[in-house]
Amino acid sequence: MQYSRKVVEHYTNPRNVGKIENASGVGEVGNPVCGDIMKMFIKVENNVIVDVKFKTFGCGAAIATSSISTEMIKGKTLEEALELKNVDVVNALEGLPPVKLHCSVLAEEAIHEAIADYYRKEGKLTEEEIKKKCKLKKPHCAHCGE
Ligand code: FES
Repeated sequence: MQYSRKVVEHYTNPRNVGKIENASGVGEVGNPVCGDIMKMFIKVENNVIVDVKFKTFGCGAAIATSSISTEMIKGKTLEEALELKNVDVVNALEGLPPVKLHCSVLAEEAIHEAIADYYRKEGKLTEEEIKKKCKLKKPHCAHCGE
């Protein structure tokens, strides 16, 4: 399997690894294809993602997509971050082998879940509004299936 220079670079030197204490939002998702798990932490100030960290228990492609997607949403508004698609992440990585494309979906979903968690804590939107705005897929918890 051939990985791009960018994938190898982000895999060997991932950015923003770790967790944020007292994060504004935390999103955890599991990949139904392989069972790998990603957890994303965001810190939000004035509707802007001022910090983001991740932990990924997964393959190299999942780690590289997590890493680059944290760089892509840092400094963005919540609405801008919700627009980030896995294809944007794949393009930024200069491509992924076709069998690894499913790995890039984890980052997009983890971002959406983290933002949804922020909205829930904020308490201004109903669960239905949050699901719609964050394009949540069910189930949203990788562990309990709820
Ligand atoms: Fe599981 Fe890549 S093989 S995320």
